[in-house]
Amino acid sequence: MVAATAQAPARPGLSNKARELMEAINTDAAKHHVWVRTQANSPAQRPWFADTTGDVVQLATGRVAANQMKTLPHHWRWKDYSQYLNRISEVARKADVSPIEFADRQSILLLNPGLNGRLQVTSTIRCAISIYNPGDVAPVHIHSPNASRTILSDKGGYTIVEGERCEAARGDLILTPNGTWHDHGNEDSEPVIWIDMLDWPLMEFLDCAWVDHGYEGENAGKNAKVQETVHQSGYSGRLYGRGGMVPTFVSHQRGIGQKPSPLIHYRGADVRETLDGLRKEAGDPYEGIRLRFVNPVTGEPIFTTLDYSAQLLRPGEETAFKRETCSTFYVVIEGQGATEIAGKRFEWSENDIFVVPNFVWRRHLNTAKKDAVLYAVSDAALLNNIGHYRAQGRTNGTVTELVS
Ligand SMILES: [Fe+2]
Repeated sequence: MVAATAQAPARPGLSNKARELMEAINTDAAKHHVWVRTQANSPAQRPWFADTTGDVVQLATGRVAANQMKTLPHHWRWKDYSQYLNRISEVARKADVSPIEFADRQSILLLNPGLNGRLQVTSTIRCAISIYNPGDVAPVHIHSPNASRTILSDKGGYTIVEGERCEAARGDLILTPNGTWHDHGNEDSEPVIWIDMLDWPLMEFLDCAWVDHGYEGENAGKNAKVQETVHQSGYSGRLYGRGGMVPTFVSHQRGIGQKPSPLIHYRGADVRETLDGLRKEAGDPYEGIRLRFVNPVTGEPIFTTLDYSAQLLRPGEETAFKRETCSTFYVVIEGQGATEIAGKRFEWSENDIFVVPNFVWRRHLNTAKKDAVLYAVSDAALLNNIGHYRAQGRTNGTVTELVS
């Protein structure tokens, strides 16, 4: 992968006199929060779809590049990041005060090297990996960002969402849609680890991020940390867990956000069974056997901003190249393989995490003799909703436009 820092091409015969005079104006204009344009925008905005090699991440220079946000390909290995979770867990066991008391969570946050140290992995997605020791509780709260957790531990841990208790197990996806009260904890005997993914950076950018810890629900005054369980584990699965059937006697609204998915707990065992049941199908040449997690009422992606999916790559399966206007964040739930991103190969194994930026070609390879399962979250839903989702495929040098 090459990070291109394209300069505006100098036009033959032009002197720098005009630019110097303009920069002199800038010296004065800055105090009024004004910039006089002395540089073209376009070098950082060449059409991503026109270049069929796609192995270049375009970066600007000069004033145009100031504070530029550009997601870069990156890979976080479990063997590298898990040590910090173990160290946090040890501190939490030994210290006089639980880190939850001053940091709200016991977690690490992943930083994309292209995003200037911001707490985000793409321009729209934040990823935190949390560890909960036995007895830990993250107090009940509500916020505007959509959030989810993907469970890495085999068992243990729970989330209560709008009164529904969700007992967690490996491969589960548990949603806390914007505007839903939720709390987390671990009542098991071993620490539990899960991956939190949120559209927090997007809500921050829109200046619309808020969090409220002032729970005033059924349990208020009894134990303010935990909301009362109204529905036992599996409730939303019983209501919505079979495709094509939706109950007529309940409201599909959860919380105060618009269009939340009322199915909030997607069980890893069900995901795996469904993938396995489809393994003999041809699948998608760019994705293998892929399932989209959807709002069962609307059939739309589970959040209006983020699109979640799970995909099975069969032993030896290699996908064709694809590139999209969305950026995608992957978690390796099972297996071993590699993903080529913008000309660079990233070898992954279980619990590894990697990011594919928008605009660049990528393909997945299952290099093992066993199945590989990837979970993905992207901002394709947002881009689709604002009319900007596009994708291309490349097979044997031929580029085709793809429909989502
Ligand atoms: Fe939360």
